[in-house]
Amino acid sequence: MATLLLIHGPNLNLLGKREEKHYGSKTLADLEALVLAEAKNVGLELKAFQSNHEGALIDWIQKESPRAAGIIINPGALTHYSYALHDALLDTKLPAVEVHLSDVGTREEWRRNSVTAPACIAVIAGKKEGGYAEAVTLLKERLQ
Ligand code: DQA
Repeated sequence: MATLLLIHGPNLNLLGKREEKHYGSKTLADLEALVLAEAKNVGLELKAFQSNHEGALIDWIQKESPRAAGIIINPGALTHYSYALHDALLDTKLPAVEVHLSDVGTREEWRRNSVTAPACIAVIAGKKEGGYAEAVTLLKERLQ
């Protein structure tokens, strides 16, 4: 069975306690359980990881990507400045979907730019947890 990697960057371990209007009320554990169920539904396995550290995220991507078929990533604030994360995603040669819980396009100016997006096949923002379900569907279609 093909495996998807679900990756969360800095501060997303605090989901459920962060600004509800932007990020909703679900915890990271709730979110991971939801995406796991979505993946299972379409016959995919899921491996999840969160870190507040850029290097730890890159190490995990390098370790896990050779055995994976696709990536769903919410890089948190790293989205807006981590060229290292961009390169790590690109080097996996896997289809990756970038997801943001909040509508980054309508918030502060600096959130509008994603340096990781060019390494991804799609960016989904502002749909809260629904964005992750859409990412699973997109990757499933891509893998067929
Ligand atoms: C976020 C948006 C980022 O700008 C922010 O730094 C986050 C979460 C989102 O899910 O909407 O930590 O990626």
